Amino acid sequence: MAEQHVVVENLVKTYPGAATPSVDHVSFSLPKGEMLALLGPSGCGKTTILRMIAGLIDPTGGAIRVNGREISQTPVHKRNMGMVFQAYALFPHMSVAENVAFGLEMRGIPKSERAAKVARALDMVKLGALGDRKVTQLSGGQQQRAAIARSLVIEPELLLLDEPLSNLDAKLRDEMRDEIRDIQSRTGVTAIFVTHDQDEALSMADRLAVMSAGRLEQIGTPRQIFDAPATEFVAGFIGAGNFLSGRVTAPGEAEIEGLGPMRFAAPDPGVAVGNRVKLMVRPHRFTLAQPALAQTGPNSFTGRVETLVYRGQVLTLGVDVGGKRLTADLHTHAGHLPARGETVTLAVAPEDVTFLSGAAA
Ligand SMILES: Nc1ncnc2c1ncn2[C@@H]1O[C@H](COP(=O)(O)OP(=O)(O)O)[C@@H](O)[C@H]1O
Ligand SMILES: [Mg+2]
Repeated sequence: MAEQHVVVENLVKTYPGAATPSVDHVSFSLPKGEMLALLGPSGCGKTTILRMIAGLIDPTGGAIRVNGREISQTPVHKRNMGMVFQAYALFPHMSVAENVAFGLEMRGIPKSERAAKVARALDMVKLGALGDRKVTQLSGGQQQRAAIARSLVIEPELLLLDEPLSNLDAKLRDEMRDEIRDIQSRTGVTAIFVTHDQDEALSMADRLAVMSAGRLEQIGTPRQIFDAPATEFVAGFIGAGNFLSGRVTAPGEAEIEGLGPMRFAAPDPGVAVGNRVKLMVRPHRFTLAQPALAQTGPNSFTGRVETLVYRGQVLTLGVDVGGKRLTADLHTHAGHLPARGETVTLAVAPEDVTFLSGAAA
């Protein structure tokens, strides 16, 4: 099988004088045209990975291949990477078109060819009419679009975006999310997008690579990451969850401390009876059992509603079950909505219980 467009293999970066690596044996690959989000908390090594791919810093170890060719030793100006950063890094004294043309000029593209390429790049980001403006006369969103046009005009092998939305206000950020996604899919450029924002990553990327403390925790589609987190870290970083510990009493069933029996769809047949397990239930996976049907069998938990937060489409309940707090998100169209102080029974299907880990007791 042909190698993927971009391959990162066992990439390591230890900054001079640092005791531990900032990037610790990270491997992933992308097919042509994919948008991958590198997601994780501040300081986990995302920017460091991007800068190594761009050629701005040298890896301590590992390989970076593009189209099957190792590029770790290739100087930055020969890698043909398009880069977009949090701060737009546009030249304020130049017009928008001059900014976009700059990279072409640097690459020695003759003037006769530049104008058409610049016009096409500006059209791509819907700035076709604003080429003559000074950069300082653009709004924040327009400046970021100009920065994207500047990185696309060179027809980059790979587009690298480092938190490109974090300087924009909330409303503009949402618009630019769609915009960037749209530009990326229209151009078909392979892209790596760095963000610490889980919503951004889930909504924009074809796949997510979730990082923690220099290591890659999991890579997968937004749905895989959200519905089948591989580690406790990923489960906690992406979305809300009820984290439950217990002990396996039968295959696919555990006794949860303080709650009672819970069946789960265990992907790991190696988890033996008597082992300790960690399970997770997303709040929206709970449903309200009808009082008449409420029973104390597995996967149904009866308790008192302590908190209620109305969020429009969902109602978030905090339910006290024998001293343990469960969080449930109910759709507000779901008939009866409970009140504070009411006794309710929450139910969850075994296949909606995520198995996180198991270990010998
Ligand atoms: N130039 C540098 N010199 C030394 N340490 C650095 C340098 N740049 C980043 N680091 C450290 O490497 C780690 C990862 O940083 P970074 O890649 O910027 O993370 P992120 O982009 O995920 O926030 C952090 O602990 C940071 O302090
Ligand atoms: Mg960063």
